[in-house]
Amino acid sequence: MTTQSPGLFIAFEGGDGAGKSTQAAELARTLEARGMTVLRTREPGGTPIGEKLRSLVLDHGHGHIDAHTEALIFAASRAAHASQVIRPALGRGETVLTDRYIDSSVAYQGAGRSLGADAVRSINEWATSGLLPDLTVLLDVDPAVGRQRRTAEDAAEDRLESEADDFHARIREAFLNLAAARPERYLVLPAHLPVTELAARILASVDALLAASPRSPA
Ligand code: TYD
Repeated sequence: MTTQSPGLFIAFEGGDGAGKSTQAAELARTLEARGMTVLRTREPGGTPIGEKLRSLVLDHGHGHIDAHTEALIFAASRAAHASQVIRPALGRGETVLTDRYIDSSVAYQGAGRSLGADAVRSINEWATSGLLPDLTVLLDVDPAVGRQRRTAEDAAEDRLESEADDFHARIREAFLNLAAARPERYLVLPAHLPVTELAARILASVDALLAASPRSPA
């Protein structure tokens, strides 16, 4: 399925500590310098209701959240994000860069929480009315390295980050499986490469996409 929108939709995915935000910021800066209008956003969150759902599902202290409830909260946040933020921006011809999208749910809830990839994909395709990215950049990180990186930056781990290493290993494998199933829609990069090299490779992919399907500048 394609987004069939004038704007380009790019998702950044990967385990915790992969460096997605850094690369999304870098790409936004480069595209904006060319005069493109870029919307940077993130999940869970991206809308007022989404930000509330984000703290509900990530903060410790709400008691136990069962896996189905967790998956539905992420999907609810995504439904608002897709309809209120992403689709309208794409419709205006803007380039949308999102830090996480449906693949995060398929990996974390489908594989990490063992709900199954098909069930999680299906509720999310319903939630977003089938809105999929034109390109997903997957920053592949060894879970142990990811944990080291994020604890070095930020001592407090959220509910998902603080899960055991085997949870994060299942997530990594799930992301790689998603990319392997549709290689034409993914750019998979080892997250340990230097920031500038990652940025250059991501830009090259985006340029190839723009050349293949030119967009009118927003
Ligand atoms: P993220 O915002 O990337 O973390 P941080 O604030 O540390 O940069 O994501 C928050 C956490 O939510 C992360 O551990 C992944 C998890 N998550 C899911 O489990 N399912 C989802 O659908 C999404 C979007 C995130």
